Amino acid sequence: MTNTANKILITGGSGFIGSALVSKLSRNKNNEIHVLDIEEPKINLDAKYEKMDIRSHKIQKYLQKVNPNKIIHLAAQASVAISSKDPILDNDVNVGGSLNILKSATELNLSQFVFFSTGGAIYGEEVGKKFNEDNIVNPQSPYGISKSSFENYLNYYSSKFNLPSVIIRPSNVFGPGQNPFGEAGVVSIFGKKMLDNEPVTIFGTGDEYRDYIFIDDVVDFIEKIIGNNITGTYNLCSGQKTKTIEIFGLLKKIIDYQHEPIMSNSREGDIFGIELDNSKASKISNWKPKTKLLEGLNKTISHLKNENIYK
Ligand SMILES: NC(=O)c1ccc[n+]([C@@H]2O[C@H](COP(=O)([O-])OP(=O)(O)OC[C@H]3O[C@@H](n4cnc5c(N)ncnc54)[C@H](O)[C@@H]3O)[C@@H](O)[C@H]2O)c1
Repeated sequence: MTNTANKILITGGSGFIGSALVSKLSRNKNNEIHVLDIEEPKINLDAKYEKMDIRSHKIQKYLQKVNPNKIIHLAAQASVAISSKDPILDNDVNVGGSLNILKSATELNLSQFVFFSTGGAIYGEEVGKKFNEDNIVNPQSPYGISKSSFENYLNYYSSKFNLPSVIIRPSNVFGPGQNPFGEAGVVSIFGKKMLDNEPVTIFGTGDEYRDYIFIDDVVDFIEKIIGNNITGTYNLCSGQKTKTIEIFGLLKKIIDYQHEPIMSNSREGDIFGIELDNSKASKISNWKPKTKLLEGLNKTISHLKNENIYK
């Protein structure tokens, strides 16, 4: 055991949000970062890496060995589309795997358990409504259901074991490092296809809208949550709605892409639109999203031009 003030375990630390969090949190020399993931990190991370499935029976032993005082739980089946095709896998990872982590976590002396749920897929939809954390959840996909279920488990274990917990409900996070070949993350997917001068498909009419938040603003909020031992449930979002066709148009301009999108049927489980309220998160340590959409898109495209970490 070292003298570090914070021993933080980040599950899913090799993924998009996880890598950005590890990079930022490891810059603070009071933090000792551990990453647990089934995938190797794609970039050089200043962290102790363990290749393990969150569903493994070895989790309990691993957690006892590392003995973190904070866990940030990101590892998940993170695609709505995959959850619709394979709800059993989605449940297995997002509920079973998460519970496997949580159950063993209750045996530790944790000062915080931070869970990445979903803001975009948990509330359902109602045109014109901006959802806040007090609204009743009404998930419309197996992914939303599994995230919501684990929120219930976390609330239960949190009160039963006096475990300080945080539920983060992010909107659509985008930025450098997001997999452009994945099932989710339109900015990177569209951007990469445009850069390669390939056709871009929009699922739906293009008028579907989401709340897009830049990765640095997500990391910034988590840093504040961790630094101040904050608990509770928070939407983590920009507070702005943007249509898919607007994202397409902005990227088209940045990249000077010459083609129109191919329109296809919307995918099962995808809702038409979601708007989220970030006032509760904004009251936390003066956090507010700093990156404007256009600035974030430009940063993402610059990075996509140079990166080769996927494929
Ligand atoms: N990116 C977004 O817009 C967004 C929005 C809302 C919520 N979230 C949630 O935030 C978290 C991180 O999302 P992301 O965009 O970084 O996704 P990601 O797919 O890039 O990262 C997820 C990581 O989890 C790992 N993982 C998957 N199954 C695992 C398992 N069984 N055992 C161990 N590791 C496993 C993957 O290897 C990957 O590195 C997820 O829980 C996701 O549901 C993301």
